[in-house]
Amino acid sequence: MMKTDAIVIDKVKESKISTIDFDNLTFGKTFTDHMLECTWRDGDWQTVEIKPYGPIQVEPSCKVFHYGQAIFEGMKAFKDATGDVFLFRPEDNWRRFNESAKRLAMPEIPKEVFINGLKKLVSLDKEWVRFGEGLSLYLRPFMIASESGVAAAPATEYKFMVIMSPAFAYYKGDVRVVIASEYSRAANGGVGYAKAAGNYAASFYPNNLALQEGYQQIIWTDAASHEYLEEAGTMNIFIRVGNKLLTAPNNDRILNGVTRRSVIQMAKDHGIIVEERRVSVNELREAAHDGTLKEIFGSGTAAVIVPIKGFKHKELKHELPESNDSYALKLMGALKDIQYNRAEDKYGWRVKV
Ligand code: COI
Repeated sequence: MMKTDAIVIDKVKESKISTIDFDNLTFGKTFTDHMLECTWRDGDWQTVEIKPYGPIQVEPSCKVFHYGQAIFEGMKAFKDATGDVFLFRPEDNWRRFNESAKRLAMPEIPKEVFINGLKKLVSLDKEWVRFGEGLSLYLRPFMIASESGVAAAPATEYKFMVIMSPAFAYYKGDVRVVIASEYSRAANGGVGYAKAAGNYAASFYPNNLALQEGYQQIIWTDAASHEYLEEAGTMNIFIRVGNKLLTAPNNDRILNGVTRRSVIQMAKDHGIIVEERRVSVNELREAAHDGTLKEIFGSGTAAVIVPIKGFKHKELKHELPESNDSYALKLMGALKDIQYNRAEDKYGWRVKV
């Protein structure tokens, strides 16, 4: 019998919020007073608990350490001028979390545990959602295989947890990218579309090489030929050629981004032609060469919308032109207006906490 109807809450004795310098936050370093934890055992989810943020105890043989059964989501809560707090498209994240869980042979989480748990947790730490341009509370739901024992098989015990971190946008400063021509992030039939922790681990080494050359991210290409643009790990990617926006269609190697979907919808409603189709590296290079390449930008929960200043592909280094009618900035404005409750939400994306 699932014990998810009631949430057991153990509040901190004293909040640490007065010790936080909200003007100097480093992404993902500061966590709120509380976290949520729910264990899956004996084939079912147990009591949902909200407790003080702190270490958890698991054995060294815990399966997540050995076989990487770990998935996560990235979400945000926003505060409006009147102090109301909103989640952005939380059901989309819940759905994707379960798609990831299924692919990693992990148990799916009921909607009420995910959504009600998040709402309760956010409302308890509401003071941590600051009001101001670019400010939000980054929510990190995740699940790990917590069963002890090193047999290579799916675990029989899992922990679903949510931690929360006050944040500005993910990238500070200019972002330039390398277009992958050697390493790959994801394979056909693999887990690239899931928010599996291992996808990120696999990208760290090539990303370090890019960083050494002064590039902040990699735009991954298809593993088979390295000829088609896919995604950037922390972001989906949009290319503006002339007045058209191009983005790779979802497949089993590309994360099905919530911000990506929002951008596509808003762009169409702004009268921008959006083509979801394969975009080859050659097409990008030719557009850069003949001057029709106007913008490249990334979209993601943490990153929001990030204009890309330049790219490198093999021997080619290209700087994007300055734009006075940037689609990235226009769409970022429209997205933030919805997130911060400054504009009508005709899509029903805001969910009040
Ligand atoms: C997010 O945008 O929430 C992500 O998952 C990117 C993260 C790795 C920082």
